[in-house]
Order: sequence, then structure tokens, then C-alpha cells
Amino acid sequence: MQPFSPTVSIVVPTFNESRNLRRLVHLLDRAMGTIPWEVVFVDDDSPDGTWKVAKDLARTDARVRCIRRIGRRGLAGACIEGALSSAAPYVAVMDADLQHDETILPAMVAKLVSGEAEIVIGSRFVGDGSSTLGFTTGRAFASRVATRLAAILIGRQVSDPMSGFFALKRQVFETVAPRLVPSGFKILVDILASSRGQVRVTEVAYRFRSRQEGRSKFDARAILDFFGLLLHRMTGGMVSVRFLFFMIVGSTGIAIHLLALRGGLLAGLGFDTAQSLATVAAMTSNFLVNNQLTYSDMKLSGAAALAGLLKFYVVCGVGALANIGVASWLFLSNEDWWVAGIAGVIVGATFNYTMSSIIVWRQQQN
Ligand code: GDD
Ligand code: MN
Repeated sequence: MQPFSPTVSIVVPTFNESRNLRRLVHLLDRAMGTIPWEVVFVDDDSPDGTWKVAKDLARTDARVRCIRRIGRRGLAGACIEGALSSAAPYVAVMDADLQHDETILPAMVAKLVSGEAEIVIGSRFVGDGSSTLGFTTGRAFASRVATRLAAILIGRQVSDPMSGFFALKRQVFETVAPRLVPSGFKILVDILASSRGQVRVTEVAYRFRSRQEGRSKFDARAILDFFGLLLHRMTGGMVSVRFLFFMIVGSTGIAIHLLALRGGLLAGLGFDTAQSLATVAAMTSNFLVNNQLTYSDMKLSGAAALAGLLKFYVVCGVGALANIGVASWLFLSNEDWWVAGIAGVIVGATFNYTMSSIIVWRQQQN
């Protein structure tokens, strides 16, 4: 038997796409012609058992592989792991839901093979590409705004940097992979920003189809992630997306604190009692929102959430002591009151973030 070695790995992130896989593999088989290919499904342990369908397919077809990820969520991260699992010279990324037109894949690969470009984007906005079918008016508008913002970030004009359909040289991917943000929805923007000025990019038009089975996972969270990514890149990658979210949530905690304090005072509580209750209310709300937002990919639930909340109280308590300690010390060293105050807040917040990442939501920091 001929040893099997694909020219292109087609990475397909999946979440609840069980009803699309069989058809997608069939369409890929028809579209790829003589190009040796494999498809790598990266499934985040979908409740609908998408990974089971993928592994069933893989048992009878060596071109099908599946990575089942447990305890993790995220489109970009799934794409990164799928691409890293490949040894093929070229990698393509596409949705499982048949919205991306697989028939242009050979043309995309051809441009990579010929050396015309290192990254080829399937674009809904050049030539006879179209996005009218797959998108609602609101989504189309948001997509245009995001495209403008992304252009600033990646420092060049690309008609569809938000595309989830693209192909690139694996070597290029391996180079930028350590710098990519795994929590977002828009991995192509991140790749383009990370490889700024170093690679040639070209586009191939296609018609964006509407989703047949299952539901879109694009939501408010995906939009927030995108802004997080923009900020992360604008600070030269110094500030992590997670840290940004943690700080934003912390600021909302101040509002909660003041509301609770006012409520407690109006209810006739003494100041100390009201202030204590407000502190607990703010910490609780910070924990809940961080669990939903900042750490949505490793959300705690049930007993683990309760244990997490208690640990969070402890972390914030120590953070507050560090805050007061630093601020007092600076104030006594003749710094202005506001310099001392801000420095204390920064130290406390950074402490809370670092310790929460280690103790409450155990993970690597990114
Ligand atoms: N593993 C994994 N984990 N896969 C995910 C996750 C996740 O958390 N969230 C979504 N996916 C998978 C979906 O199952 C689908 O195969 C693909 O990622 C895209 O998700 P959709 O829910 O279909 O997104 P969309 O159609 O609204 O947007 C897509 O197409 C746009 C146009 O090209 C995305 O690829 C956008 O980035 C892109 O702009
Ligand atoms: Mn889709």
C-alpha cells in the first residue's frame, strides 16, 4: 500500500456540528481532486457527540483525524491545535457548517504551491465573492466595521481579514503560533497581525453559503474577544486579553460596590456593616462575571464554582492588604496621595489577577 502523506491538512474546528461532518467529508473528497489531503476535526467535547461522528468517519477513512479537547473552549485555540498537529506543508482552516465553499480549496492551495503567496484568504468581498446569503444585515454591518478596525491592526488592506476560511504554509504558521491568542474567534486577523510585513497575502473569492444544520456560535462574547484581541495587539502584545478583561470586570465591581453601599445605608445599616456587605457583593459579582467572561473557556460550575468563589474571596482579601500596604508605604515616603492610591490599586489588581489565575482558575496565563 502507498504510504499516506497529505499535501494539505484541512483544520475544521467543531462545536455541535455532528450533522454536518459526513457531508463535509464527502464534499471535500469531491473538491480536492488529485491533491492529497486530510481533514483534522478539532472538537471541544461537543454535547451532541460531534467527535464520535468524526472518529467513526476516521475508522474507515485514513484522511480523517479528530482531536477531542476536554475542558476547553474556543474557536481560535482549536484551529491552533489542529494546525500544530499537522506535518503537511500546507494548512487550511474552514468551518464545519458548509458555509465556506470547499470547491475553491484547490485554487487556494495552488497559489501556495506556486509561491504566489504564503497566506491565501477565502474572501466574501472580492470578485464575485458574496456574503449576502449567510449573513443578517446587522451581522454584515458589524463585519464591515470590524474589517476596518482589523485593517489598522494588520497594517494592510485585505478585503476579508475576518474570514474563517484561509490556507497558509505550515512553516509560516509554526513561526507565528507561539504569539497567537487562543481565546478569540478571529484567528486569521491574529495571524495577519503577527506576521505583519513578512508574508505575501492573496485572496480567492467565494460565495458564503447559509448554514444548513446547527446554530452559529458567534455571540456577544465573540465581539468582546475581538476587541480584546485589538487591544492586546495595539499594546504590542504586552497586555494579555485575559488581564484586560479582568481589569474591566474589576471596574464594574466598583460600580456594584457603590450601589450596594448606598443600598445598605438607605436600608439603615451602619457604615461599617454596609461597607463590608458592599465589599462581599462586589467580590461576588466580580467572581461571577469573570467566570462567565474572562475565564469562559474554563468556566467553573457547581461545587467547583462555590470552592472557586471562596478562594476568590481569600485572594482578593490578600490583594487588598497588598494594596493598602504599598499605598501606605508610598504615602509615608512622601508620594502624592493619588500616586500612592493608584500604585496600591495596580499592585492589588495585578496580585488578584495573578493569584486568581493560579489558584481559582488553574491554567497557563494568556
Ligand atoms: N472547537 C471549537 N470550539 N469549535 C468552535 C467553537 C469552539 O468554541 N466555536 C465555534 N466553533 C466552530 C463551529 O462549529 C464552526 O465549525 C466554526 O467554528 C465557525 O463557527 P460558526 O458558529 O459557524 O461561526 P460563523 O459562521 O458565525 O462565523 C464563521 O465564519 C465567518 C465568515 O468566514 C467564523 O469562521 C468567523 O470567524 C468568520 O468570520
Ligand atoms: Mn458558520
